[in-house]
Amino acid sequence: QKSQAWSALFSEPMSDLVKRYTSSVFFDKRLWQADIAGSLAHAEMLAAQKVIGADDLASIQKGMAQITAEIEAGQFEWKLDLEDVHLNIEARLTQLVGDAGKRLHTGRSRNDQVATDVRLWLRGEIDLIAGLLTDLQKALVGIAEQNVDVILPGFTHLQVAQPVSFGHHMLAYVEMFARDAERMADVRRRVNRLPLGAAALAGTSYPLDRERVAKTLGMDEVCQNSLDAVSDRDFAIEFTAAASLAMVHISRFSEELILWMSQNFGFIKIADRFTTGSSIMPQKKNPDVPELARGKTGRVVGHLMGLITLMKGQPLAYNKDNQEDKEPLFDTVDTLKDTLRIFAEMVGGITVVPAAMEQAAARGYATATDLADYLVKKGLPFRDAHETVAHAVKAAQSHACDLSELPLTVLQGFHPAIEKDVFDVMSLRGSLEARSTLGGTAPSQVKAQIARHRARLG
Ligand code: ARG
Repeated sequence: QKSQAWSALFSEPMSDLVKRYTSSVFFDKRLWQADIAGSLAHAEMLAAQKVIGADDLASIQKGMAQITAEIEAGQFEWKLDLEDVHLNIEARLTQLVGDAGKRLHTGRSRNDQVATDVRLWLRGEIDLIAGLLTDLQKALVGIAEQNVDVILPGFTHLQVAQPVSFGHHMLAYVEMFARDAERMADVRRRVNRLPLGAAALAGTSYPLDRERVAKTLGMDEVCQNSLDAVSDRDFAIEFTAAASLAMVHISRFSEELILWMSQNFGFIKIADRFTTGSSIMPQKKNPDVPELARGKTGRVVGHLMGLITLMKGQPLAYNKDNQEDKEPLFDTVDTLKDTLRIFAEMVGGITVVPAAMEQAAARGYATATDLADYLVKKGLPFRDAHETVAHAVKAAQSHACDLSELPLTVLQGFHPAIEKDVFDVMSLRGSLEARSTLGGTAPSQVKAQIARHRARLG
Protein backbone atom coordinates (compact mmCIF):
# COMPACT_ATOMS: atom_id res chain seq x y z
CA GLN A 1 0.00 0.00 0.00
CA LYS A 2 1.29 3.39 -1.01
CA SER A 3 0.94 5.45 2.14
CA GLN A 4 3.24 8.34 1.31
CA ALA A 5 3.15 11.02 -1.32
CA TRP A 6 6.68 10.34 -2.52
CA SER A 7 7.03 6.55 -2.22
CA ALA A 8 8.46 5.38 -5.54
CA LEU A 9 11.97 6.63 -4.91
CA PHE A 10 12.35 5.07 -1.51
CA SER A 11 13.79 1.62 -1.04
CA GLU A 12 12.69 1.14 2.56
CA PRO A 13 9.82 2.38 4.70
CA MET A 14 10.25 5.02 7.35
CA SER A 15 10.84 3.65 10.82
CA ASP A 16 8.03 4.10 13.32
CA LEU A 17 10.15 6.43 15.38
CA VAL A 18 10.89 8.66 12.38
CA LYS A 19 7.22 8.66 11.47
CA ARG A 20 6.28 9.85 14.91
CA TYR A 21 9.10 12.35 14.97
CA THR A 22 8.23 13.95 11.64
CA SER A 23 4.47 13.76 11.77
CA SER A 24 2.47 16.84 12.75
CA VAL A 25 -1.08 15.72 12.11
CA PHE A 26 -2.05 15.46 15.75
CA PHE A 27 -1.53 19.16 16.23
CA ASP A 28 -1.85 20.66 12.76
CA LYS A 29 -5.24 19.06 12.13
CA ARG A 30 -6.64 22.15 13.76
CA LEU A 31 -5.84 23.91 10.46
CA TRP A 32 -8.31 21.75 8.56
CA GLN A 33 -10.84 24.47 7.76
CA ALA A 34 -8.16 26.79 6.41
CA ASP A 35 -6.64 23.88 4.47
CA ILE A 36 -9.94 23.07 2.77
CA ALA A 37 -10.71 26.75 2.07
CA GLY A 38 -7.27 27.18 0.48
CA SER A 39 -7.69 24.02 -1.60
CA LEU A 40 -11.12 25.06 -2.85
CA ALA A 41 -9.86 28.51 -3.85
CA HIS A 42 -6.88 26.92 -5.64
CA ALA A 43 -9.07 24.37 -7.46
CA GLU A 44 -11.60 26.97 -8.52
CA MET A 45 -8.78 29.07 -10.02
CA LEU A 46 -7.21 26.02 -11.72
CA ALA A 47 -10.55 25.35 -13.41
CA ALA A 48 -11.00 29.00 -14.42
CA GLN A 49 -7.51 28.89 -15.95
CA LYS A 50 -8.38 25.60 -17.70
CA VAL A 51 -5.58 23.75 -15.92
CA ILE A 52 -8.18 21.26 -14.65
CA GLY A 53 -11.64 20.53 -16.03
CA ALA A 54 -14.93 21.86 -14.72
CA ASP A 55 -15.85 18.26 -13.88
CA ASP A 56 -12.68 17.91 -11.80
CA LEU A 57 -13.58 21.05 -9.88
CA ALA A 58 -17.10 19.76 -9.24
CA SER A 59 -15.69 16.48 -7.92
CA ILE A 60 -13.21 18.28 -5.67
CA GLN A 61 -15.97 20.48 -4.28
CA LYS A 62 -18.20 17.48 -3.63
CA GLY A 63 -15.38 15.54 -1.97
CA MET A 64 -14.39 18.48 0.22
CA ALA A 65 -18.00 18.93 1.33
CA GLN A 66 -18.06 15.32 2.47
CA ILE A 67 -14.68 15.64 4.21
CA THR A 68 -15.95 18.74 6.01
CA ALA A 69 -18.98 16.81 7.21
CA GLU A 70 -16.81 13.91 8.34
CA ILE A 71 -14.43 16.12 10.31
CA GLU A 72 -17.28 18.06 11.90
CA ALA A 73 -18.96 14.81 12.93
CA GLY A 74 -15.69 13.53 14.41
CA GLN A 75 -15.70 10.65 11.92
CA PHE A 76 -12.65 11.59 9.91
CA GLU A 77 -9.82 9.16 10.48
CA TRP A 78 -6.60 11.12 10.96
CA LYS A 79 -3.61 8.94 10.10
CA LEU A 80 -0.15 9.38 11.55
CA ASP A 81 1.23 7.65 8.46
CA LEU A 82 -0.03 10.51 6.33
CA GLU A 83 2.14 12.94 8.29
CA ASP A 84 0.14 16.14 8.34
CA VAL A 85 -3.26 17.75 7.85
CA HIS A 86 -2.55 18.47 4.17
CA LEU A 87 -1.72 14.91 3.14
CA ASN A 88 -4.53 13.46 5.25
CA ILE A 89 -7.16 15.58 3.56
CA GLU A 90 -5.72 15.11 0.07
CA ALA A 91 -5.54 11.33 0.50
CA ARG A 92 -9.15 11.17 1.66
CA LEU A 93 -10.19 13.39 -1.25
CA THR A 94 -8.54 11.04 -3.74
CA GLN A 95 -10.14 8.07 -2.04
CA LEU A 96 -13.53 9.76 -2.46
CA VAL A 97 -13.28 11.26 -5.98
CA GLY A 98 -10.35 9.53 -7.69
CA ASP A 99 -8.26 11.34 -10.30
CA ALA A 100 -9.80 14.77 -9.69
CA GLY A 101 -8.36 14.53 -6.17
CA LYS A 102 -4.93 13.80 -7.62
CA ARG A 103 -5.18 16.89 -9.83
CA LEU A 104 -5.74 19.27 -6.88
CA HIS A 105 -2.04 19.57 -6.09
CA THR A 106 -1.20 20.86 -9.60
CA GLY A 107 0.95 23.97 -9.37
CA ARG A 108 1.02 23.75 -5.60
CA SER A 109 3.39 22.50 -2.90
CA ARG A 110 2.81 21.82 0.74
CA ASN A 111 5.22 24.67 1.30
CA ASP A 112 2.93 27.37 -0.06
CA GLN A 113 -0.07 25.41 1.19
CA VAL A 114 0.98 25.35 4.85
CA ALA A 115 2.06 29.00 4.82
CA THR A 116 -1.37 29.89 3.43
CA ASP A 117 -3.19 27.73 6.00
CA VAL A 118 -1.38 29.24 8.97
CA ARG A 119 -2.07 32.76 7.73
CA LEU A 120 -5.76 32.08 7.10
CA TRP A 121 -6.18 30.45 10.49
CA LEU A 122 -4.27 33.17 12.33
CA ARG A 123 -6.29 35.89 10.63
CA GLY A 124 -9.47 34.40 12.08
CA GLU A 125 -7.92 34.13 15.53
CA ILE A 126 -6.69 37.74 15.41
CA ASP A 127 -10.26 38.83 14.70
CA LEU A 128 -11.49 36.88 17.74
CA ILE A 129 -8.72 38.35 19.88
CA ALA A 130 -9.64 41.87 18.72
CA GLY A 131 -13.19 41.24 19.96
CA LEU A 132 -11.92 39.93 23.30
CA LEU A 133 -9.66 42.96 23.74
CA THR A 134 -12.69 45.17 23.16
CA ASP A 135 -14.70 43.21 25.76
CA LEU A 136 -11.94 43.58 28.33
CA GLN A 137 -11.62 47.31 27.66
CA LYS A 138 -15.38 47.73 28.06
CA ALA A 139 -15.31 45.87 31.37
CA LEU A 140 -12.48 48.11 32.60
CA VAL A 141 -14.28 51.27 31.47
CA GLY A 142 -17.33 49.98 33.38
CA ILE A 143 -15.46 49.58 36.66
CA ALA A 144 -13.69 52.89 36.06
CA GLU A 145 -17.02 54.66 35.68
CA GLN A 146 -18.31 53.24 38.97
CA ASN A 147 -15.18 54.35 40.82
CA VAL A 148 -14.23 57.75 39.45
CA ASP A 149 -14.50 59.26 42.93
CA VAL A 150 -12.80 56.45 44.81
CA ILE A 151 -9.36 57.58 45.88
CA LEU A 152 -6.43 55.20 45.65
CA PRO A 153 -2.91 55.98 46.78
CA GLY A 154 -0.92 56.18 43.57
CA PHE A 155 2.52 54.61 43.88
CA THR A 156 5.97 55.16 42.50
CA HIS A 157 8.63 52.68 43.62
CA LEU A 158 5.65 51.03 45.39
CA GLN A 159 5.87 53.91 47.89
CA VAL A 160 2.79 56.07 48.33
CA ALA A 161 3.12 59.00 45.93
CA GLN A 162 -0.04 61.01 45.18
CA PRO A 163 -3.75 60.29 45.33
CA VAL A 164 -5.33 59.05 42.12
CA SER A 165 -8.84 58.13 41.14
CA PHE A 166 -9.37 54.37 41.08
CA GLY A 167 -11.19 54.93 37.79
CA HIS A 168 -8.12 56.70 36.41
CA HIS A 169 -5.98 53.73 37.41
CA MET A 170 -8.30 51.34 35.57
CA LEU A 171 -8.20 53.55 32.47
CA ALA A 172 -4.42 53.23 32.38
CA TYR A 173 -4.97 49.56 31.54
CA VAL A 174 -7.59 50.49 28.96
CA GLU A 175 -4.89 52.50 27.18
CA MET A 176 -2.56 49.48 27.20
CA PHE A 177 -5.17 47.10 25.84
CA ALA A 178 -6.18 49.68 23.22
CA ARG A 179 -2.58 49.70 21.97
CA ASP A 180 -2.59 45.90 22.00
CA ALA A 181 -5.64 45.99 19.75
CA GLU A 182 -3.86 48.45 17.43
CA ARG A 183 -0.87 46.13 17.26
CA MET A 184 -3.12 43.17 16.42
CA ALA A 185 -4.77 45.16 13.62
CA ASP A 186 -1.35 46.09 12.28
CA VAL A 187 -0.05 42.51 12.39
CA ARG A 188 -3.21 41.39 10.62
CA ARG A 189 -2.25 43.47 7.58
CA ARG A 190 0.94 41.46 7.12
CA VAL A 191 -0.71 38.13 8.01
CA ASN A 192 -3.38 38.62 5.38
CA ARG A 193 -1.15 38.06 2.32
CA LEU A 194 -1.22 35.03 0.05
CA PRO A 195 1.72 32.61 -0.35
CA LEU A 196 -0.18 30.18 -2.67
CA GLY A 197 1.28 30.20 -6.16
CA ALA A 198 4.83 30.29 -4.81
CA ALA A 199 4.68 26.48 -5.06
CA ALA A 200 7.72 24.73 -3.56
CA LEU A 201 9.98 27.79 -3.72
CA ALA A 202 10.34 29.16 -7.27
CA GLY A 203 6.81 29.69 -8.55
CA THR A 204 5.30 27.38 -11.14
CA SER A 205 4.97 26.98 -14.90
CA TYR A 206 1.17 26.67 -14.79
CA PRO A 207 -0.77 29.83 -15.66
CA LEU A 208 -1.96 30.47 -12.11
CA ASP A 209 -4.02 33.54 -11.29
CA ARG A 210 -2.76 34.35 -7.82
CA GLU A 211 -4.73 37.57 -7.52
CA ARG A 212 -7.91 35.62 -8.06
CA VAL A 213 -7.06 33.17 -5.25
CA ALA A 214 -6.21 36.07 -2.95
CA LYS A 215 -9.56 37.65 -3.67
CA THR A 216 -11.45 34.40 -3.08
CA LEU A 217 -9.74 33.98 0.28
CA GLY A 218 -10.29 37.61 1.31
CA MET A 219 -6.59 38.32 1.37
CA ASP A 220 -5.35 41.86 0.81
CA GLU A 221 -2.39 41.05 -1.43
CA VAL A 222 -0.23 38.24 -2.76
CA CYS A 223 3.28 37.65 -1.41
CA GLN A 224 5.55 39.08 -4.09
CA ASN A 225 8.56 36.77 -3.81
CA SER A 226 8.12 33.00 -3.98
CA LEU A 227 11.18 32.20 -1.85
CA ASP A 228 10.09 34.57 0.88
CA ALA A 229 6.45 33.47 0.64
CA VAL A 230 7.13 29.85 1.57
CA SER A 231 9.86 30.35 4.10
CA ASP A 232 9.36 33.32 6.39
CA ARG A 233 7.28 33.08 9.52
CA ASP A 234 7.89 36.65 10.65
CA PHE A 235 4.13 37.22 10.70
CA ALA A 236 3.80 34.50 13.36
CA ILE A 237 6.66 36.00 15.35
CA GLU A 238 5.11 39.45 15.14
CA PHE A 239 1.81 38.09 16.30
CA THR A 240 3.46 36.33 19.23
CA ALA A 241 5.29 39.54 20.12
CA ALA A 242 1.99 41.45 20.16
CA ALA A 243 0.43 38.62 22.19
CA SER A 244 3.37 38.73 24.62
CA LEU A 245 2.87 42.44 25.20
CA ALA A 246 -0.84 41.93 25.81
CA MET A 247 0.04 39.20 28.32
CA VAL A 248 2.61 41.48 29.96
CA HIS A 249 -0.13 44.09 30.44
CA ILE A 250 -2.39 41.43 31.95
CA SER A 251 0.49 40.31 34.13
CA ARG A 252 1.10 43.81 35.52
CA PHE A 253 -2.59 44.14 36.26
CA SER A 254 -2.52 40.69 37.90
CA GLU A 255 0.34 41.71 40.13
CA GLU A 256 -1.67 44.72 41.33
CA LEU A 257 -4.80 42.67 41.94
CA ILE A 258 -2.77 40.17 43.96
CA LEU A 259 -1.16 42.92 46.04
CA TRP A 260 -4.42 44.81 46.54
CA MET A 261 -6.16 41.63 47.68
CA SER A 262 -3.49 40.84 50.25
CA GLN A 263 -4.41 41.61 53.89
CA ASN A 264 -1.60 44.16 53.98
CA PHE A 265 -3.42 46.29 51.42
CA GLY A 266 -7.03 45.16 51.58
CA PHE A 267 -7.98 47.52 48.74
CA ILE A 268 -10.19 45.09 46.81
CA LYS A 269 -12.05 41.84 46.95
CA ILE A 270 -12.33 39.50 44.00
CA ALA A 271 -15.58 37.57 43.58
CA ASP A 272 -15.36 34.11 45.19
CA ARG A 273 -15.84 32.36 41.86
CA PHE A 274 -12.42 33.62 40.77
CA THR A 275 -10.60 32.59 43.93
CA THR A 276 -9.70 29.27 45.51
CA GLY A 277 -9.32 27.99 49.05
CA SER A 278 -6.55 26.10 50.74
CA SER A 279 -6.68 22.42 51.66
CA ILE A 280 -4.94 23.11 54.96
CA MET A 281 -5.59 26.75 55.94
CA PRO A 282 -9.32 27.29 56.43
CA GLN A 283 -9.12 31.08 56.30
CA LYS A 284 -7.61 31.29 52.79
CA LYS A 285 -9.02 32.85 49.66
CA ASN A 286 -6.31 32.90 47.04
CA PRO A 287 -6.17 34.94 43.82
CA ASP A 288 -5.31 31.95 41.63
CA VAL A 289 -6.64 33.44 38.41
CA PRO A 290 -4.37 36.51 38.36
CA GLU A 291 -1.49 34.40 39.62
CA LEU A 292 -1.93 31.93 36.78
CA ALA A 293 -2.22 34.75 34.26
CA ARG A 294 1.06 36.16 35.56
CA GLY A 295 2.58 32.69 35.23
CA LYS A 296 1.18 32.05 31.76
CA THR A 297 2.75 35.30 30.61
CA GLY A 298 6.11 33.59 31.03
CA ARG A 299 4.90 30.79 28.85
CA VAL A 300 3.79 33.10 26.01
CA VAL A 301 7.00 35.14 26.18
CA GLY A 302 8.79 31.77 25.98
CA HIS A 303 6.91 30.98 22.76
CA LEU A 304 8.11 34.28 21.32
CA MET A 305 11.69 33.32 22.13
CA GLY A 306 11.09 29.86 20.66
CA LEU A 307 9.69 31.15 17.39
CA ILE A 308 12.25 33.84 16.84
CA THR A 309 15.04 31.35 17.53
CA LEU A 310 13.39 28.82 15.21
CA MET A 311 13.77 31.30 12.35
CA LYS A 312 17.25 32.63 12.92
CA GLY A 313 19.40 29.94 11.31
CA GLN A 314 17.24 28.99 8.37
CA PRO A 315 18.62 29.39 4.86
CA LEU A 316 16.12 30.08 2.08
CA ALA A 317 13.67 28.68 1.29
CA TYR A 318 11.39 26.24 3.15
CA ASN A 319 12.88 24.01 5.85
CA LYS A 320 11.07 21.51 7.97
CA ASP A 321 12.07 23.53 11.04
CA ASN A 322 8.99 25.56 10.23
CA GLN A 323 6.72 22.73 11.24
CA GLU A 324 7.79 23.68 14.77
CA ASP A 325 6.00 27.02 14.45
CA LYS A 326 2.62 25.49 15.15
CA GLU A 327 2.55 24.34 18.75
CA PRO A 328 3.91 27.61 20.18
CA LEU A 329 1.63 29.62 17.94
CA PHE A 330 -1.44 27.57 18.83
CA ASP A 331 -0.65 27.69 22.53
CA THR A 332 -0.10 31.45 22.36
CA VAL A 333 -3.51 31.95 20.77
CA ASP A 334 -5.24 29.63 23.26
CA THR A 335 -3.56 31.16 26.28
CA LEU A 336 -4.21 34.74 25.23
CA LYS A 337 -7.86 34.10 24.35
CA ASP A 338 -8.62 32.26 27.60
CA THR A 339 -6.85 34.90 29.65
CA LEU A 340 -8.61 37.84 28.00
CA ARG A 341 -11.96 36.13 28.39
CA ILE A 342 -11.49 35.34 32.07
CA PHE A 343 -10.22 38.84 32.83
CA ALA A 344 -13.16 40.53 31.15
CA GLU A 345 -15.38 38.47 33.47
CA MET A 346 -13.27 38.87 36.58
CA VAL A 347 -13.04 42.67 36.33
CA GLY A 348 -16.81 42.83 36.78
CA GLY A 349 -16.38 40.84 40.00
CA ILE A 350 -13.99 43.28 41.71
CA THR A 351 -15.29 45.09 44.82
CA VAL A 352 -13.32 48.10 45.98
CA VAL A 353 -12.78 49.04 49.64
CA PRO A 354 -12.46 52.86 49.47
CA ALA A 355 -11.80 53.28 53.21
CA ALA A 356 -8.70 51.07 53.05
CA MET A 357 -7.36 52.98 50.06
CA GLU A 358 -7.93 56.37 51.67
CA GLN A 359 -6.30 55.27 54.91
CA ALA A 360 -3.26 54.07 53.02
CA ALA A 361 -3.10 57.34 51.09
CA ALA A 362 -3.22 59.37 54.30
CA ARG A 363 -0.61 57.16 56.00
CA GLY A 364 1.76 57.80 53.13
CA TYR A 365 1.50 61.65 53.14
CA ALA A 366 0.07 61.50 49.62
CA THR A 367 -0.78 65.20 49.63
CA ALA A 368 2.67 66.52 50.55
CA THR A 369 3.17 67.74 46.97
CA ASP A 370 -0.09 69.69 47.26
CA LEU A 371 1.24 71.56 50.28
CA ALA A 372 4.40 72.42 48.37
CA ASP A 373 2.34 73.62 45.38
CA TYR A 374 0.26 75.74 47.82
CA LEU A 375 3.39 77.50 49.05
CA VAL A 376 4.54 78.08 45.47
CA LYS A 377 1.23 79.83 44.79
CA LYS A 378 2.02 82.01 47.84
CA GLY A 379 5.26 83.07 46.14
CA LEU A 380 7.88 80.56 47.35
CA PRO A 381 10.32 79.08 44.81
CA PHE A 382 9.42 75.37 44.38
CA ARG A 383 12.73 74.09 45.78
CA ASP A 384 12.20 76.09 49.01
CA ALA A 385 8.59 74.93 49.27
CA HIS A 386 9.75 71.32 48.85
CA GLU A 387 12.21 71.71 51.73
CA THR A 388 9.65 73.42 53.97
CA VAL A 389 7.17 70.59 53.44
CA ALA A 390 9.85 67.98 54.15
CA HIS A 391 10.17 69.54 57.63
CA ALA A 392 6.40 69.45 58.04
CA VAL A 393 6.25 65.76 57.03
CA LYS A 394 9.01 64.97 59.51
CA ALA A 395 7.02 66.66 62.26
CA ALA A 396 3.82 64.84 61.29
CA GLN A 397 5.71 61.54 61.28
CA SER A 398 7.01 62.15 64.77
CA HIS A 399 3.41 62.79 65.95
CA ALA A 400 2.23 59.74 63.93
CA CYS A 401 -0.38 61.88 62.21
CA ASP A 402 -1.23 63.13 58.73
CA LEU A 403 -0.17 66.60 57.57
CA SER A 404 -3.79 67.71 57.68
CA GLU A 405 -3.94 66.73 61.37
CA LEU A 406 -1.24 69.22 62.37
CA PRO A 407 -2.80 72.36 63.94
CA LEU A 408 -2.74 75.51 61.83
CA THR A 409 -0.37 77.22 64.29
CA VAL A 410 2.12 74.36 63.96
CA LEU A 411 1.91 74.54 60.16
CA GLN A 412 2.39 78.29 60.29
CA GLY A 413 5.58 77.63 62.24
CA PHE A 414 6.98 76.08 59.05
CA HIS A 415 5.90 79.08 56.98
CA PRO A 416 3.87 82.15 57.88
CA ALA A 417 2.15 82.23 54.49
CA ILE A 418 0.12 79.15 55.43
CA GLU A 419 -3.53 80.00 56.10
CA LYS A 420 -6.75 78.19 56.94
CA ASP A 421 -7.48 77.33 53.28
CA VAL A 422 -4.51 74.95 53.36
CA PHE A 423 -6.69 72.17 54.77
CA ASP A 424 -8.75 71.91 51.58
CA VAL A 425 -5.56 71.75 49.57
CA MET A 426 -4.19 68.94 51.71
CA SER A 427 -7.34 66.83 51.53
CA LEU A 428 -7.26 63.78 49.25
CA ARG A 429 -10.20 65.13 47.29
CA GLY A 430 -8.65 68.57 46.90
CA SER A 431 -5.47 66.96 45.64
CA LEU A 432 -7.37 64.82 43.15
CA GLU A 433 -9.44 67.68 41.81
CA ALA A 434 -6.41 69.91 41.38
CA ARG A 435 -4.80 67.55 38.85
CA SER A 436 -6.95 68.55 35.94
CA THR A 437 -4.43 68.67 33.11
CA LEU A 438 -5.43 66.65 30.06
CA GLY A 439 -4.96 63.00 31.00
CA GLY A 440 -4.69 63.87 34.71
CA THR A 441 -6.52 62.18 37.55
CA ALA A 442 -9.12 64.91 38.31
CA PRO A 443 -12.61 63.37 38.16
CA SER A 444 -13.57 65.83 35.40
CA GLN A 445 -10.70 64.50 33.24
CA VAL A 446 -11.42 60.88 34.08
CA LYS A 447 -15.06 61.37 33.05
CA ALA A 448 -13.96 62.92 29.76
CA GLN A 449 -11.71 59.92 29.09
CA ILE A 450 -14.52 57.51 29.90
CA ALA A 451 -16.72 59.30 27.36
CA ARG A 452 -13.95 59.07 24.76
CA HIS A 453 -13.47 55.35 25.35
CA ARG A 454 -17.21 54.69 25.27
CA ALA A 455 -17.47 56.42 21.88
CA ARG A 456 -14.42 54.56 20.59
CA LEU A 457 -15.47 51.11 21.82
CA GLY A 458 -19.10 51.47 20.76
N1 ARG B 1 3.78 19.90 7.92
C1 ARG B 1 4.63 20.78 7.20
C2 ARG B 1 4.81 22.09 7.96
O1 ARG B 1 4.14 22.29 8.91
C3 ARG B 1 4.02 21.07 5.87
C4 ARG B 1 5.01 21.43 4.82
C5 ARG B 1 5.86 20.29 4.54
N2 ARG B 1 6.64 20.52 3.38
C6 ARG B 1 7.66 19.72 3.06
N3 ARG B 1 8.31 20.00 2.00
N4 ARG B 1 7.99 18.70 3.80
O2 ARG B 1 5.63 22.90 7.66
